Amino acid sequence: MFNQALITGATSGLGEALARRLAQEKIPLVLTGRNQDRLAALAQELRRIVPVATIAADLAAEREKLIYFLQTEAPDLVINNAGFCFYGEALSHPTSIQLETLEVNAIAPIELTLEAAKALKIAGKSGVILNVSSLAGELVFPTMAAYAAAKACLTSFSQSFDEEMRRSSIRILSALPGQIQTEFSQRASNQKKDHSSKAMTKEYAAEKIWRQILKRKQVERFNALYAWAAKLSRYLPRSWVLKSIRRDNPL
Ligand SMILES: NC(=O)c1ccc[n+]([C@@H]2O[C@H](COP(=O)([O-])OP(=O)(O)OC[C@H]3O[C@@H](n4cnc5c(N)ncnc54)[C@H](OP(=O)(O)O)[C@@H]3O)[C@@H](O)[C@H]2O)c1
Repeated sequence: MFNQALITGATSGLGEALARRLAQEKIPLVLTGRNQDRLAALAQELRRIVPVATIAADLAAEREKLIYFLQTEAPDLVINNAGFCFYGEALSHPTSIQLETLEVNAIAPIELTLEAAKALKIAGKSGVILNVSSLAGELVFPTMAAYAAAKACLTSFSQSFDEEMRRSSIRILSALPGQIQTEFSQRASNQKKDHSSKAMTKEYAAEKIWRQILKRKQVERFNALYAWAAKLSRYLPRSWVLKSIRRDNPL
């Protein structure tokens, strides 16, 4: 199956659930994130099942650690999952935070995807790189402008690159979840907001992604309601879509 998997953002939420799911499949893991205590605790727990290594790194500033690992080990499964958002109008946050949103959610996973694919090609191996994007990237999203733009960029890059690579045995897949029950909303709102009660569990999202990897499905959009809204918005007149977005997001 897979000989080794690297997961970014494994200290919390979806990344942690993915680490547990891959451990069930007995895939040796390399886990990354910034929070060293959480990384160490998860690694210690999962080492009862599979070999686990950790690399603590801030994706906005220390990607060279991960790039070195990709170049030397060429893992055959890479999941670019780390990401974050800040809710609120773009001008209510410093420009530097908008740029960091783009750096962590788009530039970092694109760089790691390119380096992972290059390393696999040089090693003559097949592999899968899965980028966790978001349905937010498919929609016009006031109060999440930089995040939605970053995810749109990541999805678009992943699809185009996968088309270039798909005749090789290296695939670049994109997962586009809707809301998941993780720390994402609390972090994005400075602990003021929790996820919606309709949000899917992180275990459900991790299972969907594992099945997508097994099927080598280029793009997976879930959950159904958001996926449907994103699809519909492509066929309706733009003015209708914007009117409904303005009604739902009174600024
Ligand atoms: N939750 C949702 O509703 C939702 C919906 C659609 C898509 N997504 C996407 O799903 C992915 C996982 O998010 P989640 O919901 O699991 O949120 P989460 O619980 O907040 O987890 C985010 C993870 O990303 C890591 N991370 C954030 N900034 C980082 C940085 N600068 N450098 C390194 N790691 C960083 C965090 O690690 P540290 O804290 O240790 O740095 C953490 O492990 C993200 O890409 C997110 O955009 C989430």
